Amino acid sequence: MTAPEINRDTFKLNSGFLIPAVALGTWKSSPEDCYNAVKHALNVGYRHIDTARIYLNEASVGKAINDFLKESDDVKREDIFVTTKLCPCDYHDPETAILGSLERLQLDYVDLYLMHHSLAEVSGEGLKPVDEDGFRKHIPFEKLSYVDAYKVVQTFVNKGYTRSVGVCNFNVPKVQRLLEVSEIPPAVVQCEIHPYLPQQDLVDFCKEHGIVVEAFSPLGSTGAPLLNEPILVSVAEKYQVSPACIAISWAIARGTVPLPKSTNDSRIEANLKTIKLSDQDVELINNISKTTTKRYLNSKWRIDVYYSDAEFNPVK
Ligand SMILES: NC(=O)c1ccc[n+]([C@@H]2O[C@H](COP(=O)([O-])OP(=O)(O)OC[C@H]3O[C@@H](n4cnc5c(N)ncnc54)[C@H](OP(=O)(O)O)[C@@H]3O)[C@@H](O)[C@H]2O)c1
Repeated sequence: MTAPEINRDTFKLNSGFLIPAVALGTWKSSPEDCYNAVKHALNVGYRHIDTARIYLNEASVGKAINDFLKESDDVKREDIFVTTKLCPCDYHDPETAILGSLERLQLDYVDLYLMHHSLAEVSGEGLKPVDEDGFRKHIPFEKLSYVDAYKVVQTFVNKGYTRSVGVCNFNVPKVQRLLEVSEIPPAVVQCEIHPYLPQQDLVDFCKEHGIVVEAFSPLGSTGAPLLNEPILVSVAEKYQVSPACIAISWAIARGTVPLPKSTNDSRIEANLKTIKLSDQDVELINNISKTTTKRYLNSKWRIDVYYSDAEFNPVK
């Protein structure tokens, strides 16, 4: 049995740039934990970091990257792939938003700028507007659709703010719509993807159109509940690795980019070490969703927004 090895695979984006096959996720990493996690990740070989305006840790990510680069003799800025995202509350002014992100990150450019959701939120109410009952507010901008926001976001490539652009939480019809109207097609679609939610239709569609798919919550999100899944556990026993290693290796075997989040040094290290699964084991894991499907990020607004085919936000 071969031991897991540091993964140095890359996939080629339709923008011509390479994207490392595993990223460190940073959602719910506090600013201090995030700094330590990103610094440690870079030290042990990660070259891909995923953050977002709404995670409130861009400054920590940027400081960790810049400190790491100062201390490193051989790694340069262009060796590290940095992603951040346009918060839905900023869809009315994406340019101010990306410039703010670059300032917090202390970077001249990001490698990937993603629209975080397909529908805009109320502007001017802070990062997480909520209604009187504490639910996230998604009220339509009468003249702003995800198409309008994307048309602004794609201009950031030629302005040098980002090397590639893409979207998160977009279903197939919405990605199709972007392909019809955009001048620069999305290079990446980032969605919740794991053995209980393989999203084969989205993965197939994106592959057909040269778009790389990133898998968020590859371990089942907070607390990694997916790792108790019996088939994952049995495959892990067979290869003498952890179920996390199997979940991450399976994502890569499908040609998707997993973004496991951790603020724990040893788990950060472990999550970059992957194995090559046999075709039969990939198939065994593919079949898990035939009997059980589960979406871990299942709040009502997220599902409403994801499945809505509306171009303007219908969700009240
Ligand atoms: N675009 C979007 O809307 C969106 C939504 C969700 C997530 N994301 C991105 O995707 C990333 C990953 O998703 P996620 O944070 O939801 O969840 P995840 O990566 O599936 O799981 C994170 C959880 O797993 C634990 N964990 C990590 N490695 C482990 C291991 N080897 N063994 C056991 N437990 C382990 C972490 O705890 P410790 O930290 O204590 O290790 C944490 O509780 C996010 O951080 C973010 O960058 C994007």
